[in-house]
Amino acid sequence: MLKKSLAHLKWWICGYILLGFTIQLLSSLGIVVFQKILDKATVMGSFGEIFNLILVYGVLLAGVVILNYVDEYPSVYLSNSITERLKILALSKISKIDYQAYQDMGTGQMIKVIENGAAAGNSMIFSFFLKTLHELLPTLLFSLIFISFYDLRIMVVIAAGYVVVFLITNLLLKFLYAMKAAILQEQEKMSRFSIRGFMELVVFRTNKRYEKEIDKLSQTARTIIHKNAQLQMIHEAFFAIFELFVTVIKVVVLIYGVKSIVAGESSLGVVVALFMFIDKIYSPIAIFNVLFVDYRLNKVTYKRFEEFIEAPEDRNLESGEVVTEIHGNIELRDVSFDYGQVKILNNLSFSIARGTSVAIVGLSGGGKSTLIKLIVGLLKKDKGELLLDGRDIDEIHLDSYYDHISYLSQDTPIFDATIRDNIVFDEHSLSDEELYEILEKVHLQEKVSQLPDRLDTLVGEKGVKLSGGERQRLAFARIIAQKRNILILDEPVSALDNITEQSLMETILQEFKDKTIIIVAHRLNFIKDVDKILVVDQGSVVGEGKFDDLIEHCEAFEALWNRKISFTNAD
Ligand SMILES: Nc1ncnc2c1ncn2[C@@H]1O[C@H](COP(=O)(O)OP(=O)(O)OP(=O)(O)O)[C@@H](O)[C@H]1O
Ligand SMILES: [Mg+2]
Repeated sequence: MLKKSLAHLKWWICGYILLGFTIQLLSSLGIVVFQKILDKATVMGSFGEIFNLILVYGVLLAGVVILNYVDEYPSVYLSNSITERLKILALSKISKIDYQAYQDMGTGQMIKVIENGAAAGNSMIFSFFLKTLHELLPTLLFSLIFISFYDLRIMVVIAAGYVVVFLITNLLLKFLYAMKAAILQEQEKMSRFSIRGFMELVVFRTNKRYEKEIDKLSQTARTIIHKNAQLQMIHEAFFAIFELFVTVIKVVVLIYGVKSIVAGESSLGVVVALFMFIDKIYSPIAIFNVLFVDYRLNKVTYKRFEEFIEAPEDRNLESGEVVTEIHGNIELRDVSFDYGQVKILNNLSFSIARGTSVAIVGLSGGGKSTLIKLIVGLLKKDKGELLLDGRDIDEIHLDSYYDHISYLSQDTPIFDATIRDNIVFDEHSLSDEELYEILEKVHLQEKVSQLPDRLDTLVGEKGVKLSGGERQRLAFARIIAQKRNILILDEPVSALDNITEQSLMETILQEFKDKTIIIVAHRLNFIKDVDKILVVDQGSVVGEGKFDDLIEHCEAFEALWNRKISFTNAD
């Protein structure tokens, strides 16, 4: 997956690596030229020759400076492209994810997995692979080659020392993995706790939950900080061990270097050049070790992101028979559904003829919303048939089905955008006049015309800047604008007063009188106006028919109705 998202960056990557090799070659040649300048100076060579070498040295160094500057662009471009691409990938995953898998993941946890994962993916590719190829490998390669020109033994000792450090690193990695996995888990927990705190101000404040939540968060934070510090200490130990090793080599080189200069076997320039190369080689080797450990640890993080990316997708959102037209006949035959172990719907059978209106009523928790989500295709039945115009929903290309239905979920589907965006997703599809006409029908025209930005007023997250009833009315405006053949409404009027509810339901039944309307309702004010009532109790249809019929023959319905009457009287 990571490889696929890199394909389009291949030329950038090639250019970046080439640039890295060029910079390191120029910089190593710079050291060699510097050595020659020193040696020529100590044997009192001609100044003209030395001057030419100094010029070459200057050109080489200037070249390195300029290329290092140019190098910034691909470096920033590549590192940002990788992170952003992974985040986009995450959103496109959500667009196709199986609804139940989505419900199982909390928002806070999901955000953390995505953020950590995108950062880890970027580190793996950019900080490890690209940095190694662009910087560490050429530095190492050229330094070792040039050191071997001066003294092969030193090159061999450094290379061997490095292999030892690398092996120790690998042995210690196991501990680090476990630590990293624990840190990630704590971080996800922390994100869950803080996001729910950010979102649930009202519940938490009025229930005085914040103190406890902050305590919990502080505890998790302490664990994270402690574990991160431990991880860093082990990490840094690799660096320190290798630094010690290189210091020993430097001391040895100095002793032998001074000895051989005195004995006339070597020159000052060569010893200085060796020192410069050892310094040059030391950091990439040490950095590589750290990066390698990071890379392996990032893999742990990235794996969690990958699990999210590989979460099951909706099986027929983008496959199956495309529906170009839908009349609105709906039939369920022996449909069953459960959430894991809990049986929710039990061999449900009923039918809804095209162009009719049906109300689904029943006690809370009886399975009405679950049933609605099956008809919308979000949840998948375990057993039975759910036929839309005679075709089973599992065989239908759901994305094309969504062109023909309007669905309002129980938690009013208003999102963080303007009034206009909440009614029409394509802002040019309806003129302002047409939008106001629709708003008039849902009794929002006056309210919207008084807002400072009118149709372009932002409504806040989940529409918090509107009242509960206004949110529901705005959702109705979207349905009227969509003019679809099937309406599926889950408790769309629960927050409205009786008068507005009555008027809105009349409008909807009138506007959509030839269409199929399924409406879940607790309050039964408009119940006498619909063509059929389905009474759902504990996952089964226990009554079906017209109002008069049910009130006489269906106990469950009679009980619901009597409760409504007593509530109304109590009001
Ligand atoms: N994602 C879920 N995972 C597990 N159980 C769930 C899930 N969603 C709902 N349930 C359970 O399924 C049962 C039916 O829920 P559903 O939302 O369909 O009821 P409902 O009839 O719409 O109730 P209400 O009138 O209160 O909206 C409930 O007992 C509920 O706790
Ligand atoms: Mg419900």
